[in-house]
Amino acid sequence: MIDISEIYFDKTIVLIPQGNIDLRFDTILKRCNIPDMGLCNAVNDIFEINYIIKEGKKMSVKEIFQPNVEFSKSARIKSMAEYQALQDEAINDYEGFWSRFAKEKLDWIEPFTNTMDESNFPFVKWFDGGKLNVSSQCIDRHLDSKANKTAILFEGDRGDTLKITYAELSKNVNKFANLLKNELNVKKGDRVVIYMPMIPEAAYAMLACARIGAIHSIVFGGFSAEALKDRIQDAEAKVVITADGAYRKDKPYMLKPVVDTALSGKTPVEKVLVVKRNNEEIAWLDGRDISYNDIIDNQSDECEAEIMDSEDPLFLLYTSGSTGKPKGVQHNSAGYILWAQMTMEWVFDVKEDDVYWCTADVGWITGHTYIVYGPLAMGATTVMFEGVPTYPDAGRPWKMVQDHKITQFYTAPTAIRVLHKMGEDEPSKYDISTLKVLGTVGEPIDPPAWKWYYESVGQSKCAIVDTYWQTETGGHIVSPLPGATPIKPACATFPLPGIMAEILDPKTGKKVGAGESGYMCITKPWPAMIRGVWGDEDRFVKSYFGDVKKDGKAVYFTGDGAKYDEDGYITITGRTDDVINVSGHRMGTAEVEAAIKKYNNVAEVAVVGKPHEIKGEGIFAYVVLKEEAEAESEMKAINGMIKQEIGSIALCDDIILAPGLPKTRSGKIMRRILRSIAKGEKITQDISTLEDPSIVASIESMVNG
Ligand code: PRX
Repeated sequence: MIDISEIYFDKTIVLIPQGNIDLRFDTILKRCNIPDMGLCNAVNDIFEINYIIKEGKKMSVKEIFQPNVEFSKSARIKSMAEYQALQDEAINDYEGFWSRFAKEKLDWIEPFTNTMDESNFPFVKWFDGGKLNVSSQCIDRHLDSKANKTAILFEGDRGDTLKITYAELSKNVNKFANLLKNELNVKKGDRVVIYMPMIPEAAYAMLACARIGAIHSIVFGGFSAEALKDRIQDAEAKVVITADGAYRKDKPYMLKPVVDTALSGKTPVEKVLVVKRNNEEIAWLDGRDISYNDIIDNQSDECEAEIMDSEDPLFLLYTSGSTGKPKGVQHNSAGYILWAQMTMEWVFDVKEDDVYWCTADVGWITGHTYIVYGPLAMGATTVMFEGVPTYPDAGRPWKMVQDHKITQFYTAPTAIRVLHKMGEDEPSKYDISTLKVLGTVGEPIDPPAWKWYYESVGQSKCAIVDTYWQTETGGHIVSPLPGATPIKPACATFPLPGIMAEILDPKTGKKVGAGESGYMCITKPWPAMIRGVWGDEDRFVKSYFGDVKKDGKAVYFTGDGAKYDEDGYITITGRTDDVINVSGHRMGTAEVEAAIKKYNNVAEVAVVGKPHEIKGEGIFAYVVLKEEAEAESEMKAINGMIKQEIGSIALCDDIILAPGLPKTRSGKIMRRILRSIAKGEKITQDISTLEDPSIVASIESMVNG
């Protein structure tokens, strides 16, 4: 027990001496005469609690968690001084910094001659003149020293496991590459759509494309046939790689039928390669469909890697923007793989004997960079999991940590909230002592989820790296470093070395001060940055370089708002555009609206985000029908249309059949009002200028009673 006299309290800060604190927060607060805030037990090494009292009740708490001393000793970046030295190196000689790491980290077939060429900004070239192959970076260069090390550790939904060594990975990828080349006539620069479950063949497919210089475009298996079709057509894909299906919660689910529907009608696709996973019956189109399992063993396990330029495209990945049409984000070879490897090493600090698990799906950027490319580029063991984390129960991830001695665990706040809710005590039932670093990604994490993650999963000894980034950035841009950064919960902390991320005032282009909100920008091009929006140069420039100028020059704007605290820590406050973040997945409101509008009885629609206990944000739709109809069946039909057009991930949590939408006299829908109503907030702004102000009151009463 600590002596109460050691607790100092003034108007804004409670100072508690560092050490093992045995008091409950509420006890401390009571003694300091602060109203109860119902937090859980105090944790070790809290030395400062800042709190704000709102109307004597609500308060937010910020605590600082110092890096684990033992961990820091052998971390790649051991202290904030080391972090700062790296960042200073980049500030003082930007190209020198990147040139040094590109030479140190990558194996070049031919060295690059120019580090960065921004003469055609925002179309930037990195490591020009250099030649390499990304699949060789991920496989071949490890074969001398790590042939028998596990590269991919696969666990199936039903508990089946498979360890694929680097030597085996090499053979499997080479065979796959030969199959693509020789049987499907895939050539350098061709686009290949991958619509696959989480099985090792998905990784082989990616690496095989990289090996022969084909550009892969993975479509998440949860997307519908329509969504798949749009992406196939936009990319003009020649081949689709899929599977019959896979397993989820011990039951088979299907993918091939979705591909069949997507390919009905005119398509650029010549061949469909089908991998067997669940052996369920599937339709077969002779001449188009090719069975992977029947021909893979006829292929040679040697395949010369295509010599690629640094700036040859590696992949496209479609992501939502603020218009109805998803953008094909393009990443190129050298810059992307360099940053994937560097961030793996710095942010997760994976060591030779570690087993690293990222729970994402390969259909999202996290799966690209942090299941496949990053871990394999650094020669790590990466876990791939087919199932869902709550099946057969919410102890599944912790059992996997125990079984495979997992050392780094990386997941999304949504998953943490579900695991917390469904299995608060589950982590204690397993030996999870191997864990060293925990990560989160995709959305802001709320303090209660953070605390449970830290205390129950991290056993109050693991750093939590709250990694902030996006599809377009290729890899992390703002994140704690586990051995160096004093962490504040739910805070992405500082830009990584080499990344010139700044929060700018969109009007002045100046850096905002502590406590002020601004736009999260990156003021210098970086190697892993998006290279273009497939087939739409104009959209690339307008989407990312149109909003903020610093010193008169356009800078990359992420679309996110952010703020600094008094110590310069960065907190991401969320999107500033019409993009909603549902369970860490980006969903354009315009995309959902376009889907809803396809239902023939819909006259008008507006979609907004609403805070959701598990998903972070849920989708809230206001729909005006053309003709009155039975509400329940209309809502079902609307969600049915979304499922058909996008997939279940975009289903609405709330649908309000509204008499009209609040619009200005010029016809612009006032989304701000709709967002407030969805959140249950009182409308205080002036609505007298609306075309029909009475609509606000009637929608308000429909939503909030
Ligand atoms: O709004 C930010 C949020 O997710 C968006 C990027 O989504 P996507 O391209 O699908 O990539 C997700 C995985 C990187 C960002 O614009 N976001 C991502 N990470 C965080 C986050 N918001 C808060 N904190 C994070 N750590």
